[in-house]
Amino acid sequence: MKVAVLPGDRIGPEVTAEALRVLEALDLPGLTLLEGDVGGIACKRHGHPLPPETLAVARAADAILFGAVGDPDCDGLERALRPEQAILGLRSAFGLFANLRPATTFPGLEGMSALRPEIAARIDLLIVRELTGDVYFGDKRIETLPDGRRRGWDMMSYAEDEVRRIAHVAFRAAQGRKRRLCSVDKANVLETSQLWRDVVIEVAAEYPDVVLEHMYVDNAAMQLVRDPGRFDVVVTGNLFGDILSDQASMCVGSIGLLASASLGERQTDYGTFGLYEPIHGSAPDIAGRGLANPMATILSAAMMLRHSFGREAEAARIEAAVAGALADGVRGGDLGGEAGTAAIGDAVLARL
Ligand code: NAI
Ligand code: MG
Repeated sequence: MKVAVLPGDRIGPEVTAEALRVLEALDLPGLTLLEGDVGGIACKRHGHPLPPETLAVARAADAILFGAVGDPDCDGLERALRPEQAILGLRSAFGLFANLRPATTFPGLEGMSALRPEIAARIDLLIVRELTGDVYFGDKRIETLPDGRRRGWDMMSYAEDEVRRIAHVAFRAAQGRKRRLCSVDKANVLETSQLWRDVVIEVAAEYPDVVLEHMYVDNAAMQLVRDPGRFDVVVTGNLFGDILSDQASMCVGSIGLLASASLGERQTDYGTFGLYEPIHGSAPDIAGRGLANPMATILSAAMMLRHSFGREAEAARIEAAVAGALADGVRGGDLGGEAGTAAIGDAVLARL
């Protein structure tokens, strides 16, 4: 079981180190950690945010554990050499089309949400966002019309196979949860969405045990803050998912707690190949001082054990250890507390 560990920049290595301590404590037979450079650190060492050496490490692995990239020293570089290109490059190199973002309120943290605590307490949802299609990847340009006015455009499209494969991921996820799936689109005005809806309905025939509903994206945005507890699994396209997943994560409250998985179709001997990362960035404002909360990265490692290595029991143990530390009042700076990166790692290890 090989893991490509790509810590990245600024707080990336700090939070990744704690996730590795947790993985090592589990003492899983056959777990091998490979290391690679990504982001600004890779620009400095290799002249590229995702150098061939790192891609080779990732190709040799069964999963990628990613810290964060983003280095203000690189802000002047052309777009193709910016650290953030590393994550986009990995998504496209491995066809990671399914982005899974769980958003669950931890007991005791209801007060961190921007929502009223009694509403936040009910959040336990999973957003399944399509990650490699939609308007982000269609033709795009700014053109000058004959009369001299400039016009910008981006082409939104989905092919039915792209919708089908993300729908299967979402239905299977719902089967492992409360068996409710909400497909979010804008089928009242967009043809792309009409096709999306038709294909999701076709796929639903294979999952008679899952209750499917459809919702327009504007209503979904409203329901996410009105009554997030009504959602179990939400599946949607790249653009809508980008917005709704950020919104859902902030309904929970803290950026230092939220994990993510990006999965493709590639199967290994152990499960589905995937990339796992906290949803936060490299936090240059607190980097180098041992202040970052590593819980999001630790929870990302748990998702890795679940999805890429079929180790549900160990994943659940890690999640319980994090929840236990939070329930006992262990709080990082993102939660208004005093606990530093290593102290939080210690607290999770103690409960593991
Ligand atoms: P950010 O997520 O790095 O930080 C936002 C705020 O949250 C900051 O005040 C930071 O101190 C705090 N924060 C973030 N993670 C934390 C943690 N684990 N514990 C405690 N506090 C935490 O977003 P920002 O500042 O917009 O971006 C910084 C850099 O990160 C940029 O270069 C950006 O492009 C990059 N970025 C990279 C991502 C990735 O690697 N996937 C995702 C988002 C941003
Ligand atoms: Mg976003």
